Amino acid sequence: MLQTPKHFLQFKDLSRAELELIFKRTQVIKDRFKRYQPYHPLADRTLAMIFEKNSTRTRLSFEAGMHQLGGTAIYLNTRDTQLGRGEPVEDAAEVISRMVDVVMIRTFEQDIIERFAAHSRVPVINGLTNEYHPCQILADIYTFIERCGPIQGKTVAWVGDSNNMCNTWLQAAEVLDFNVHVSTPPGYEVEPERAGLFTTSYYEEFTDPMDACRDADLVTTDVWTSMGFEAENAERMQAFADWQVDAEMMSVAHKAALFMHCLPAHRGEEVAAEVIDGAHSVVWDEAENRLHTQKALLEYLLRGQIED
Ligand code: CP
Ligand code: NVA
Repeated sequence: MLQTPKHFLQFKDLSRAELELIFKRTQVIKDRFKRYQPYHPLADRTLAMIFEKNSTRTRLSFEAGMHQLGGTAIYLNTRDTQLGRGEPVEDAAEVISRMVDVVMIRTFEQDIIERFAAHSRVPVINGLTNEYHPCQILADIYTFIERCGPIQGKTVAWVGDSNNMCNTWLQAAEVLDFNVHVSTPPGYEVEPERAGLFTTSYYEEFTDPMDACRDADLVTTDVWTSMGFEAENAERMQAFADWQVDAEMMSVAHKAALFMHCLPAHRGEEVAAEVIDGAHSVVWDEAENRLHTQKALLEYLLRGQIED
């Protein structure tokens, strides 16, 4: 009888203790890699990466990460596989999970990845759904800790759409005990149930994005139109016009506040060039840390706690 696999489908699938372990391992694995010390705990293991939406960072970081850990990654997309010709997701999960050791999926509704995971013999990782982007927040929080120390008790300002990134920040606040100040245009407010929250006490909503940014330790935003919502683009460009993170917003945040963006970014829309290319911005570290945090995640899901 197989042990039930441990999945990472939403941020709250990992406890605080597990996240602390992953952040500790990230540092070890990153340091070792920078010193050219080979580390191959996943030799002979295979990751299948299923993409139903575009990607640069997620594909590259998982593929390079698996290689660096001694394993292999296989890229699959809907266009070239039987998934695009209507093979049930449950059947695909049964078959794929007999051939590989871990699966990463980027898809549309969260329900798709949940159904896949329910029929998978191996761990399944959410590489972005309409609802969540847990791997990105793992990297973002590691980047915060690397720069500023523990995130507990700190304030994160979220400016823009209450999308997959926002929902995941809100889940992370509950698990790691920090606060989120959210400012969205009217009609785009947080939906606590869709965000998968247990409570509404870790975030506060602000009509004015300046108020959300006041005294924040981290200011973050994302595209106004996420993948899959392109038909709403024109409407969103109008609705979000006053929700651009600019130097004025950063000036009311904490003096040493960080700016993050999961990328890809649109300068002149959700963020001013002077912010994303300015002194507060850590977006390149944030992107690089996708690689290191995901290696620690893969190690944990496949090998459990490793002490060395
Ligand atoms: N941030 C992020 O997930 O980037 P990609 O869409 O390029 O994977
Ligand atoms: N919210 C964005 C994130 C892209 C990495 C999207 O879903 O398109």
